Amino acid sequence: MLQPEALFLRTIIEPFRIKSVEPLRQTTVQERSRLIAEAGYNLFLLRANDILIDLLTDSGTSAMSTEQWAGMMRGDESYAGSESYFRLKSVAEALMGFKHVIPAHQGRAAERILFSVLCKPGHIVPNNTHFDTTRANVEFTGAQAVDLLMSEARDTQTQLPFKGDMDTEALESLIQENGRERIPLVMVTVTNNSGGGQPVSMANLEQVREITRRHGIPLYLDACRFAENAWFIHEREPGYADWSARDIARKMFSLADGCTFSAKKDAFANIGGLLCSNDDRLAQQEKDLLILTEGFPTYGGLAGRDLEAIAVGLQEILDPYYLAYRVASTAYLGRHIADHGVPIVEPPGGHAIYIDAARMLPHIPRNQFPAQSLAVELYRHAGIRSVEIGSVMFGEHAQNELLRLAIPRRVYTQSHIDYVVEAILEVNELKDGLRGYELVSQPQFLRHFSCRFRPLG
Ligand code: F0G
Repeated sequence: MLQPEALFLRTIIEPFRIKSVEPLRQTTVQERSRLIAEAGYNLFLLRANDILIDLLTDSGTSAMSTEQWAGMMRGDESYAGSESYFRLKSVAEALMGFKHVIPAHQGRAAERILFSVLCKPGHIVPNNTHFDTTRANVEFTGAQAVDLLMSEARDTQTQLPFKGDMDTEALESLIQENGRERIPLVMVTVTNNSGGGQPVSMANLEQVREITRRHGIPLYLDACRFAENAWFIHEREPGYADWSARDIARKMFSLADGCTFSAKKDAFANIGGLLCSNDDRLAQQEKDLLILTEGFPTYGGLAGRDLEAIAVGLQEILDPYYLAYRVASTAYLGRHIADHGVPIVEPPGGHAIYIDAARMLPHIPRNQFPAQSLAVELYRHAGIRSVEIGSVMFGEHAQNELLRLAIPRRVYTQSHIDYVVEAILEVNELKDGLRGYELVSQPQFLRHFSCRFRPLG
């Protein structure tokens, strides 16, 4: 297949045209100041209609293709044995190679089932970096979630090709110190969402595979953004320039014993997830639990039409023109703000740009949530919604104070991104006037979704 590198012109365009549009609603600074105060300064509590450009998440927010919508019409809504399930299963098997493919309503449902079957109090689950729901689901079983990210990635400014890599020496020592019996699985998150959307190298996955095999510990991928990770390997890792994203992805999956997958990311679906494994006994236990809360194993909490959308999306996502555009357009946002003095996690990640708010707003201490302050101001100033990934989200486990600008797939054009760039650079001019926040209320788990704040000073 012709690769994007072989194109004659250098301008990278959106590799789609638009057939159906949703109008955006403009609001004023005064309106937004009132709305954000009413929402307790928590952007999750805003109404979507009051947002101009929504960069809260790349999850479930993709624009589906004509082929996906056509697939929706084909959806077989049979309770058991749906044809749509078998179509999805054969696509997932061809790509991932796992023996058991269990649908679930989204990634965290797959996580909950996997960890409920494998983990108990006293267990430890290592990951390069757990995402918020992954950590919460591990901890909910009484097990401990441990992040083992390579130490060079702590510094947001270091320029390295694979800042999502796991620290394999730390993994080896953790296993030696605690014993293999206490570690029911090792997980690697591709790409590393909480750590800046940074990719994991194939070499690192191979090392983790070698260690886990030697100790007899199952290795799972948190495969939400497997295609973006595969593209970074194609672009950056020696030996893979001639490999297609599909072949790289297949090799990544072949190194694992199973995966959890949120189809809301790298399958362009608005809902859905998968839990895959090669272990017959485990899969049976998982299916038993699935029936209890998600549904029969050929639909797992989804409609037949959703299964079709995922099956088509899993194939479209590996199109090299799409992936080249995806990674280049995210880097476009990153470079345009970073080259004008806004500190971001370097180098730009796959699905999002992360502003290092602690570095940008050194006058706001960590316990006053600098990234939350920036998120509020970006909304107030320009109607853009982003998300804090720092001490609000992770409490004492936060490595950095980041503001994530996640880019929905195939949704915004370059002029939308130019507007975002302009807004961020204007807020950067006003940064000395930004103030910290304090929490006024919070729930027991995953507090960032519903806590409320008060501005300080
Ligand atoms: N793992 C990772 C790495 C994720 O980024 C997410 C979701 C999940 C698991 C859970 O999947 O949402 O389908 O239940 N991340 C979204 C985000 C919510 O905004 O980054 P889910």
